[in-house]
Formats: sequence, C-alpha cells, structure tokens
Amino acid sequence: MSLHDRVALVTGAGRGIGRAIADRLADGGCRVVVADVDGASAEQAAAEIGVAYETETLGVGANVADATSVKQMVEAAVAAFGSVDILVNNAGITRDGLLLRMKEADWDQVLAVNLKGAFLCTQQAARLMAKGRWGRIVNIASIVGAMGNIGQANYVAAKAGLIGLTKTVAREYASRGITCNAVAPGFIDTAMTQALTEEIRAALLAQIPMQRLGSPEDVATTVAFLASEAAGYVTGQVVHVNGGMYM
Ligand SMILES: NC(=O)c1ccc[n+]([C@@H]2O[C@H](COP(=O)([O-])OP(=O)(O)OC[C@H]3O[C@@H](n4cnc5c(N)ncnc54)[C@H](O)[C@@H]3O)[C@@H](O)[C@H]2O)c1
Repeated sequence: MSLHDRVALVTGAGRGIGRAIADRLADGGCRVVVADVDGASAEQAAAEIGVAYETETLGVGANVADATSVKQMVEAAVAAFGSVDILVNNAGITRDGLLLRMKEADWDQVLAVNLKGAFLCTQQAARLMAKGRWGRIVNIASIVGAMGNIGQANYVAAKAGLIGLTKTVAREYASRGITCNAVAPGFIDTAMTQALTEEIRAALLAQIPMQRLGSPEDVATTVAFLASEAAGYVTGQVVHVNGGMYM
C-alpha cells in the first residue's frame, strides 16, 4: 500500500472526513496539501499534520467552485512540492430542502461546490499527473448518490454526477497511469451529520446493519488504499463505505 513520497492534495481538509484523509495519507508517507475554503483551518490542520507525522505539509485557502482559486491552489502545490500525484476531491456542502421549496441559489451552490469543484480540480491536477504518467484521483461521493434522498435533490444530483465524472475521467486517463475512483460514504459522524435531529439519527441507525454511524477514519482508510500503489488496476469504481446500509 505504498504512498511514500507522493504529493497528495485534499480539498475540504480543514475538518471532518477531509482532515481524516489528510492525516491518513500523511501517516502513509505523503507530503500533503491541505486545502479548504476556510484558510485558517487549512493552515492549522497542515501544521498539526506536519508535526504528528513528521512530513512536509502546506495549508492553502481555496474555493473549489472558483476556477481562479483552484488554479492558484494547484500552483501553490507545485511551487511547494513540484507536482500533485494524488487528488482527493472531498470538499462538499449541503443546502437541504424539499424539491418544491428548494431555492435556485441552493441548487446552484451545491452543484458548484460538489460537482463543478471536482471538475475544476481534476482538470488542473490531471494535466500534472499525465506528465508523470502516474496519478490517483479519488472523489468523495455519497450513498445518497446511489439511493436518492428526500430533501436533497441538489446534493444527490451532484453526487450522482460525480460518479459519472469519475467513470469518464477513469476512461480518459487510464492509458496514462492515472486511476479515478469514487468513495461513497454512508452516514459518517461529522459536523455535516451532527446537524441532524436525534429523531433522524435514530431512524438512520435503524437502517444500518452495523448499528453505528461511520467514522471519518473508516472513509480515510479506503481512500488511502485507492490512492496507493497497490490499487493500480482499480479504476472507474464506486467503493461504498456504509456499514451495510446500501448493498
Ligand atoms: N458526513 C457524512 O455523513 C457524509 C456522507 C457522505 C458523503 N459525505 C461527503 O464527504 C465530504 C466531506 O464531508 P464532511 O462530513 O467531512 O463535511 P464537513 O462539513 O465537516 O467538512 C467539509 C469541509 O469542506 C470545506 N468546504 C466547503 N466548501 C468548500 C469550498 N467551496 N472549497 C473548499 N472547501 C470547502 C469546509 O470548509 C469543511 O472544512 C463531502 O463531500 C460530503 O458530501 C459526507
């Protein structure tokens, strides 16, 4: 599962699942670029990870929905570490509401961050990976992208779109040694799910055979495998990490 000396860029890594992924990749020997729209959290996470795993890190404030910001983020990664070998498109937001009441702005914003953001980051990073004829792209989708979910038309459309993007990038770049896969988490214990009411949490737990929410580390270990040398023949796949909630 070697990750040694690879340069990994993780978006939305200031906290939550992205932070756990950044930790796990650093633990495996990567130099890590921690990017987040909240620049202060990115810098703090990068500093903590650097100390904890004795590796080089860079914290960057970047908005994945903004093409200029994404370009600057990738330029900063190249200036610091020479390239990007592993890209994890993790940044994501929710703006939930039933279809009839969903505001157009909430539709647009969720699509911009969750789907267009992955497109913009992949476009920049794939160019670099193609030069080195090696790359790993991992997109963080969601169980709901496969199942649908009441109140999440925008988010589900974005995550299902991300799965389609994953398969296309996998086909376009396979011949250049670049894999692209998606990890679809179930319900994971982060700020995103801590916002749910006790009632909804209880209803969710009843649907999970493992009878617990997942941890960010449950997702991070799967991402680390897909990012590693060992997963070189795995591409265009969606790996579900959901405690058996969807099979
Ligand atoms: N928590 C879950 O149950 C769950 C389940 C399935 C999928 N996911 C997906 O996992 C990913 C991480 O979720 P999380 O639970 O850790 O969420 P979180 O809200 O805890 O963290 C998301 C991070 O992304 C950052 N971010 C938001 N918009 C951004 C932007 N435009 N540019 C850069 N960074 C941005 C935030 O500042 C935050 O640090 C998301 O893509 C989410 O959709 C989460």
